[in-house]
Amino acid sequence: MTVRKILTLSGDGIGPEVMTATRRVMDWFQAQDRIRFEISEGLIGGSSYDVHKIPLTDDTVARAKAADAVLFACIGGPKWDQLPYDVRPEKGLLRLRKEMGLFANLRPAIVMDALAGASSLKTDLVRGLDIMIVRELIGGIYFGEPRGVEQLPDGTRRGYNTQAYSTAEILRIAHVAFELARKRGKRLCSVDKANVMESGLVWREEITKLRNAQYPDVDLSHMYIDNCSMQLVRAPKQFDVIVTDNLFGDILSDLASMLTGSLGMLPSASLGAVGPDGRQPAMYEPVHGSAPDIAGKGIANPLAMILSFAMMLRYSFNLGTDADLLKRAVQNVLSSGVRTSDIAEPGQTAIGTTAMADAVVKELTKLAK
Ligand code: IPM
Ligand code: MG
Repeated sequence: MTVRKILTLSGDGIGPEVMTATRRVMDWFQAQDRIRFEISEGLIGGSSYDVHKIPLTDDTVARAKAADAVLFACIGGPKWDQLPYDVRPEKGLLRLRKEMGLFANLRPAIVMDALAGASSLKTDLVRGLDIMIVRELIGGIYFGEPRGVEQLPDGTRRGYNTQAYSTAEILRIAHVAFELARKRGKRLCSVDKANVMESGLVWREEITKLRNAQYPDVDLSHMYIDNCSMQLVRAPKQFDVIVTDNLFGDILSDLASMLTGSLGMLPSASLGAVGPDGRQPAMYEPVHGSAPDIAGKGIANPLAMILSFAMMLRYSFNLGTDADLLKRAVQNVLSSGVRTSDIAEPGQTAIGTTAMADAVVKELTKLAK
């Protein structure tokens, strides 16, 4: 059996807890001879800064590039909030995405039946929801130049950033979104701010041209970001696949997570272009952040991280059956009323991070029989 090289980056806050929990699930797949891993660990974010005075070292970048897949938890926290931007924990993650060329960020928002009541929206609005947000991840205002803070003659300051998208950047993310839409409900909604921004206008025009030339079978619509935010809470089930830029995708995916009941439920996959050797750079990460307020308490929900591992099985290793098995195990655990505190409904007792992972492992064993 091929040995898959995985680099795990636990990062900060609840990261180490949810990663340890996910390792229990990974160990189960290995013990069952379903997959062979060689797992190594690396530092990123504040935990890297504390040791190396930078949030990501060249060595970690090299190891991430050499790995078959990277499993990343989360970074950041109040301890590092006062640092200059270039050494902040977030910078480590952004640099890693850029260096690995991870331009396509897939963020599915799926409402599992058992959790429909945990959403902040009315159950009817979200029951059965299954949308895929495709976020451009290494362009736009996150990386645009010029950027900075300048001193003005009157002693005040001016902070500025640049939003820019080229045809090539738009087309490569659009292809990913169209291909995904083809495998799903064949509906793609592209989200921009073309009524105000030139970058949005180019975005819209390039995607329309691509659709007409290569994806006439996909039903393409366009929405402005403000309208889309409103539509997502008004009638989220109208969407199938959404494609949008880096900043809008960041915002919409947090919004979408609440439709599913908790930020602790959303996994994601970040993919690069397939290289000449057939390898595709890939990193899997929960959408949630480091949640410093609950870090170290053993109560964080590990399911977003566990489901990110399921995405790794599917997208990096083509193990769709195993990914489905893991998803079903998570669904069954939730259906049986087992909850962490973020998704517990009135009358349900919440269990901790490790207990949740153990419940998933127990269910996997049951399902595999
Ligand atoms: C995310 C996060 C990151 C982002 C931060 C931590 C840099 O919010 O993955 O959504 O803004 O991309
Ligand atoms: Mg975010």
